Amino acid sequence: MVKKILSRKWVLIIMGLILCTSLFTMCINHQEKNSEQVVQKQRELFSGSTSCANCHKSIYDSHIHTAHHLSSRPADTSTVMGKFETGHNKFVFDLSNTILVERSGDRLYQVLYVNGTEKKRRPFDIVIGSGTRGQSYLYWWKDTLFQLPLTYFTATNQWCNSPGYPGRVVFGRPVTSRCLECHTTYAQSIAAPDAQFEKFDHNIIYGVDCEKCHGSGIQHVQFQTQHPNEKTGKYIINPASFTRKQSLDLCALCHGGRLAKTKPSFEFHSGDTLANYFQIDNVAKEAVNIDVHGNQYGMLAASRCFKESGMTCMTCHNPHENEKGKKELFSQRCITCHNVEHNNFCKLNSRLGNSITKNCIDCHMPEQPSRSITVLLEGAIEPTSANMRSHFISIYKDATKNYLNKNLRP
Ligand code: HEC
Ligand code: HEC
Ligand code: HEC
Ligand code: HEC
Ligand code: HEC
Ligand code: HEC
Ligand code: HEC
Repeated sequence: MVKKILSRKWVLIIMGLILCTSLFTMCINHQEKNSEQVVQKQRELFSGSTSCANCHKSIYDSHIHTAHHLSSRPADTSTVMGKFETGHNKFVFDLSNTILVERSGDRLYQVLYVNGTEKKRRPFDIVIGSGTRGQSYLYWWKDTLFQLPLTYFTATNQWCNSPGYPGRVVFGRPVTSRCLECHTTYAQSIAAPDAQFEKFDHNIIYGVDCEKCHGSGIQHVQFQTQHPNEKTGKYIINPASFTRKQSLDLCALCHGGRLAKTKPSFEFHSGDTLANYFQIDNVAKEAVNIDVHGNQYGMLAASRCFKESGMTCMTCHNPHENEKGKKELFSQRCITCHNVEHNNFCKLNSRLGNSITKNCIDCHMPEQPSRSITVLLEGAIEPTSANMRSHFISIYKDATKNYLNKNLRP
C-alpha cells in the first residue's frame, strides 16, 4: 500500500516535470521563432546597393572602389588576398605548430598541423578588411562566428598571426557583434545577449554600403520605381541635412575608437545620437593618448582646426569616392580655410613657395604606427605595426624635418 502511494506520487511528479519541460521548451521555441521573425522582417527592409545602381549609377560606380564597400565580403579565391602557392602558404608558430592555407575545390581552409599531423581544419567563410592594410578571416560554427588564426598583412605580403594573439594558435576567438556593426551594412544578433556565444543571422549584407549611411532603402526604391517622374527622393535619409553633431556621430560609430556599449549592437541608425547607445568619453583628451587606430574622430576633435571651425569629416572626405593617396586634393581642402587672403596660411610658405600647396598632409597629419593594428610576423620577436594617418592636425617638428630632408635636399 505504502509502496503504491509512493509510486503514484512519483508518477505525478514525473508527469509534472514532463509538462513543465515541454511548456518551457515551447516557450523557448516560441521566443526563438519570434526573434527570427523580427530579424527577417528587418532584413527585408534592405534592398542592397545593386538596386541603387539603377538610378544612382555614377555614385554606385565610384563607391564600389571604396574601402567601405570592400570592407567585408564572402571569402573566395577572388577576395582572399593572401597567397596559396607552395613556399608562401604557411606560417610556422614554433617547432611543432604550423598552419597551412589550403585550397580544396571551391573552398579555402586554414589547417593546423602539429608535428606534421593534421589537427584542425576550418574554412575561410568571411573576409574582413579591404586589404589596404590587411585582411582577417572568419568562419561559421553553427550561428557563431570565429576568427581564423592567420591574417594577411599587406605591407609585407605575408601571412601572419591575427592581431591580438599572443604568438600561439587560437581557433576559438568568437567574433563580437560590434565587429560586424563596424564592418557590415546589415547583421543581426539572434541569441539572447547573455548567451555564452553571440549568434548571428547568416544573411549578412557585406561592406559598409549605401544603406549603412542612408538607412534601409526598400521603401525608397519601391516609391521611386512606381513614380518615375518624381524628382525628389522620398523615404531615404540624406545626411546632407544632418546637424554637425549628427554627421559626426554617424562616422564616429565606427571611427570613434573603442566605445563602451550601453545598448545592444545594431540599434544605432544613421541620424541617431551616439551618446544614447555608447558611453562617450569627453573628447579633447591629450592627443598622444588617443590611439591612431580607428579613432579619427577623437583625434580630430582635439585639433584647433576642429574646435575653431564648424568642420565635419565631410569637409575633407567625399563618402562616395576612393581618394586615398591624393594628397594634393586633400591639401586644396586645407587651403579653402588656410590661405594668404585669410592671413592664416602656413608660416613656411615664404620659404617653400608654391610647392607647399601640394602636400600639407605629411607635415601636419603625419603617419604614425598604430597601437592596435599590430601583427607578429613569422620568426619576429617584436610585433610590426601598420601606419595610420594622425587626425590630430598640428605642428610636428620631426615630420617637418623628414619632409624637408626628403624633398629639398639635392
Ligand atoms: C527607381 C530609381 C531609384 C532607385 C532604385 C533609388 N533611388 Fe535614390 N533617388 C531617386 C530619385 C529620383 C531621387 C531624387 C533626385 C536625386 O536626388 O537624385 C533620389 C534621391 C536619393 C537621395 C537623396 C534624398 C534627398 O532627400 O535629397 C538619396 C540619399 C538616395 N536617393 C539614396 C538611394 C539609395 C541608398 C538607394 C538604394 C537603396 C536608392 N537611392 C535607390 C531614385 C532612385
Ligand atoms: C559602419 C561603420 C562605418 C561608418 C558608419 C563609417 N565608416 Fe569609414 N570605414 C569603416 C571601416 C570598417 C573602414 C575600413 C575599411 C577597410 O579598409 O576594410 C573605413 C574606412 C574609411 C576611410 C578610409 C578609406 C581609405 O581609402 O583608406 C575613410 C576616409 C572613412 N572610412 C571615412 C568615413 C566617413 C567620413 C564616415 C562618415 C560619413 C564614415 N567613414 C563612416 C567603417 C565605417
Ligand atoms: C559612409 C557613408 C555613406 C555611404 C556608404 C554612402 N553614402 Fe551617400 N551620402 C553620404 C553623405 C554624408 C551624403 C551627404 C553629402 C553632403 O553632405 O553633401 C550623401 C549623399 C548622397 C546622395 C545625395 C546626392 C548627393 O550627392 O549629395 C545620394 C543620392 C547618395 N548619397 C547615394 C548613395 C548611394 C547610392 C550609395 C551606395 C552606392 C551611398 N550613397 C553610400 C554618406 C554615404
Ligand atoms: C569600432 C569599429 C570597429 C570594430 C569593432 C572593428 N573594426 Fe576593424 N576597422 C575599423 C576601422 C574604422 C578600420 C579602418 C582603419 C582605421 O581607420 O582605423 C578598420 C580596419 C580593419 C582592418 C584592416 C583593413 C584594411 O585593409 O586596412 C581589419 C583586417 C579589421 N579592421 C578587422 C576587424 C575585425 C576582424 C574585427 C572584429 C573582430 C574588427 N575589425 C573590429 C573599425 C572597426
Ligand atoms: C574649415 C576650415 C579649416 C580647414 C578645412 C582646415 N583648418 Fe586648420 N585651422 C582652422 C582654424 C579655424 C584654426 C585655428 C587657427 C586659425 O584660425 O588659423 C586652424 C588651425 C590650424 C593649425 C594650427 C594648429 C595649432 O595647433 O596651432 C594648423 C597647423 C592647421 N590648421 C593646418 C591645417 C591643415 C594641414 C589642414 C588640411 C589637412 C587644415 N588645417 C584644414 C580651420 C581649418
Ligand atoms: C582636415 C581634413 C580632414 C578631416 C576633417 C578628416 N580627415 Fe580623414 N583624412 C584626411 C587625410 C589628408 C587623410 C590621408 C589621406 C591619404 O593619405 O590617402 C585622411 C585619412 C583618413 C582615413 C584613412 C586612415 C589612414 O590612416 O589612411 C580615415 C579612416 C579617415 N581619414 C577618417 C576620417 C573621419 C572619420 C573623419 C571625421 C571624424 C575625418 N577623417 C576627418 C583628412 C581629413
Ligand atoms: C614642410 C612641412 C610643412 C608643410 C609642407 C606645410 N606646413 Fe604648415 N607649418 C609647418 C611648420 C613647421 C609650422 C610652424 C611654423 C612656425 O611656427 O614658425 C607650420 C605652421 C602652419 C600653420 C600655423 C600658422 C600660424 O599662424 O601659427 C598653419 C595654419 C599651417 N602651417 C597650414 C599649412 C597648410 C594649409 C599647408 C599646405 C598648403 C602647410 N601648412 C604645409 C610645416 C609645414
